[in-house]
Amino acid sequence: MATVVTLVGGARPNFVKLAPLYRALRRRVQFDVRLVHTGQHYDEAMAGSFFKELDLPKPHAALNVGSGSHAAQTARLLEGFEDHLRVSRPDIVVVVGDVNSTMACALAAAKTRYQDGRRPLIAHVEAGLRSFDRSMPEEINRMLTDALADYLFVSERSGADNLRREGRAADCVFMVGNVMIDTLLAHVEEACGRRPWRQLGVPRRGYALVTLHRPSNVDDLESLAGLWEALGLVSSRLPVVFPVHPRTRDRLRAAGLSAPRGVHVCDPQPYVSFLGLLSGARVVLTDSGGVQEETTAVGVPCLTLRENTERPITTILGTNRVIGVDVAKIVAAVDEVLAAPMPAKPSLPLWDGRAAERIASILERDAAMGRMSAVDRALATTE
Ligand code: UD1
Repeated sequence: MATVVTLVGGARPNFVKLAPLYRALRRRVQFDVRLVHTGQHYDEAMAGSFFKELDLPKPHAALNVGSGSHAAQTARLLEGFEDHLRVSRPDIVVVVGDVNSTMACALAAAKTRYQDGRRPLIAHVEAGLRSFDRSMPEEINRMLTDALADYLFVSERSGADNLRREGRAADCVFMVGNVMIDTLLAHVEEACGRRPWRQLGVPRRGYALVTLHRPSNVDDLESLAGLWEALGLVSSRLPVVFPVHPRTRDRLRAAGLSAPRGVHVCDPQPYVSFLGLLSGARVVLTDSGGVQEETTAVGVPCLTLRENTERPITTILGTNRVIGVDVAKIVAAVDEVLAAPMPAKPSLPLWDGRAAERIASILERDAAMGRMSAVDRALATTE
């Protein structure tokens, strides 16, 4: 009988991670693969364009949860995914990353028992990352998802170290590499070939690319105004390209902040255009987690506008520096980057385009052996 695997995605970065997993699992006849789109992101620019460019199929189920407060969105995710589980009864639920959809769907799966007594196994892809900053909603999502998962698929060494420190059994933790980099490597040539910087009238290696969407940076007016001032100063050194996330767009409008001269503000970019812009930049300023990894993979200097990172490998082996949000420090860091030559492209262990294949192989082997969920194993050993 086929093993039913449900892949869950809800927000923009999830779709990038799901694409190689979907294909790797589909290649194995053992698996009946289904895709659930929770609808946490719903705009064409934040979701639809990713399905098209990454060749993801129309989702088998759409939960349409939409935006809302954390509690309201999580509640809708729990209800919607629980209903889906009852009908679809997957053997394995795969969640990726650290967004609300990741955590809520893992929680719904962990509490589900089918009529025949089975439970779905839960696999978390990008497990173990920790910023050790619980004011970040993503940190709560990571901790909860990892606590519930039967499979912890890790992208960098720190993830395995954190999980071991938290007492997770070694046989649940698999160092597989980075599925987001699988997607990047599959598209980077095409992305650069399109030369998206030309449409913006800026030269390759002659502009800074900026992304900002963390609530701690954009929801607070003082922080947002400080970052805006910093971008204005950076734009006096080189042109700044700033695709604006809807959360940030709304906050900028509400604050009445308009773009300084030299800052090219544009809509959120589809995946391939954004990857092209990132690969052609002289420097990237960001508060995103994924962008720290993507810049590392292509060897572009990255300045992270946060006080911490859950992806320390990008600062150890990669091109990333965590510099915080102080205006003078941001400008000084940009000046340092511009004064130095472009770094060599780093090579990171297992960021080789084959992470999804490794995950699919592990799940295939275990499906053949009839692996039980963590809860069932615990029950079996106490009986
Ligand atoms: C979410 C994730 C974050 C991730 C980011 C990637 C959580 C807690 N946060 O943050 O970890 O890095 O996605 O982009 O899960 N909106 C639209 N159109 C959309 C989606 C959102 O206009 O398609 C607007 C809405 O006003 C919404 C706001 O953006 O309230 C924020 O969306 P939400 O998904 O809550 O959080 P993000 O900031 O996108």
